[in-house]
Amino acid sequence: MNLLPKDPHGCPFLILAPMEGVGDRCFRKAMASIGGFDEAVRDFLRVPKNGHVKSLACEYISDEIAPIPLAAQIMGSNLELMGAMAQEIEKRGALRIDLNCGCPSNTVTGHGAGSSLLKDPQFLNEVAQSVVKSVKIPVTIKMRSGFEDISLFKENILAAQESGVRYITLHPRTKVDGYGPPARWDLIAEAKSILTIPLVGNGDILNVENALEMIKQTKCDALMIGRGSIINPFIFHQIRAHFSGRVFRAEWSDLLRYLEVYLSEIPPDMSNRIRVNKLKQLMGFLFKANAELLEKRNSILTAQHSDPEAYLHFVLPLLQEGFF
Ligand SMILES: Cc1cc2nc3c(=O)[nH]c(=O)nc-3n(C[C@H](O)[C@H](O)[C@H](O)COP(=O)(O)O)c2cc1C
Repeated sequence: MNLLPKDPHGCPFLILAPMEGVGDRCFRKAMASIGGFDEAVRDFLRVPKNGHVKSLACEYISDEIAPIPLAAQIMGSNLELMGAMAQEIEKRGALRIDLNCGCPSNTVTGHGAGSSLLKDPQFLNEVAQSVVKSVKIPVTIKMRSGFEDISLFKENILAAQESGVRYITLHPRTKVDGYGPPARWDLIAEAKSILTIPLVGNGDILNVENALEMIKQTKCDALMIGRGSIINPFIFHQIRAHFSGRVFRAEWSDLLRYLEVYLSEIPPDMSNRIRVNKLKQLMGFLFKANAELLEKRNSILTAQHSDPEAYLHFVLPLLQEGFF
């Protein structure tokens, strides 16, 4: 079965990227209210070096944004526990499990998980195999181009492919790069020319032109978008519309609904201060959407308001004026 089908107009399969912290349940629910993407990946569930995985697996809700499918992502390096976690997640109705080989955080890499797996292709292969062999659902890998440098790039993508994963998503920066230098789309093109399994291109897609350019330059099979979707939640609709020869026009009411859903999903036990900070974080991205908003970004980030309603009262007119 093709896991990455194009739409009837030839638009590649579009995936909302996992983004721990910013891209939480509130964000996914808000994005689902706008739609346009085919699937989302939940941010990683950390599989400990020892202990029980059942309670951790409960954090994954397969129908969270139904009818849009939500894949689970796991991160860890203990072969047995990774397999056990995958089984728990499969029981919870996941359509696929993604293995995180990219997280740059030192607390993660210090335990041999996330991007640390890229230091040892053989071990990466063993971890991936232990997950693949534990479940019936498809397993995929999301990886960076290397740890310190790209010297093991080819070995890593081949080790991933040989483990039996169904496709690879490549974010072409090393761990050391963090999010700094431009994503190396030439490495997506190189991986595409080497691999026989499908490849999802990811990194620095901020608009329709970027999406088209990545497809042209790399020939990747599908696209994953992270930060570009927080800056512009309509990006998936805009890309899709391009392929069917339409222009997608976002409405203010859609953006308002998005913000309403976001706010309504913030857990009720969170204090007003945390709610305001969460909203600020989201607004900090939306106010990168164009030069006009960018000019006002500092003022919306430094504004002091004691509750979300007061903050929105201040920020919404600026957003409406600048976004449309
Ligand atoms: C705040 C943040 C959190 C992230 N968390 C995850 C994660 O949990 N799992 C993962 O595989 N990638 C994670 N990433 C990486 C993104 O999924 C993506 O690969 C990267 O941001 C490049 O794509 P973009 O330019 O479209 O954002 C995260 C990125 C950001 C900015």
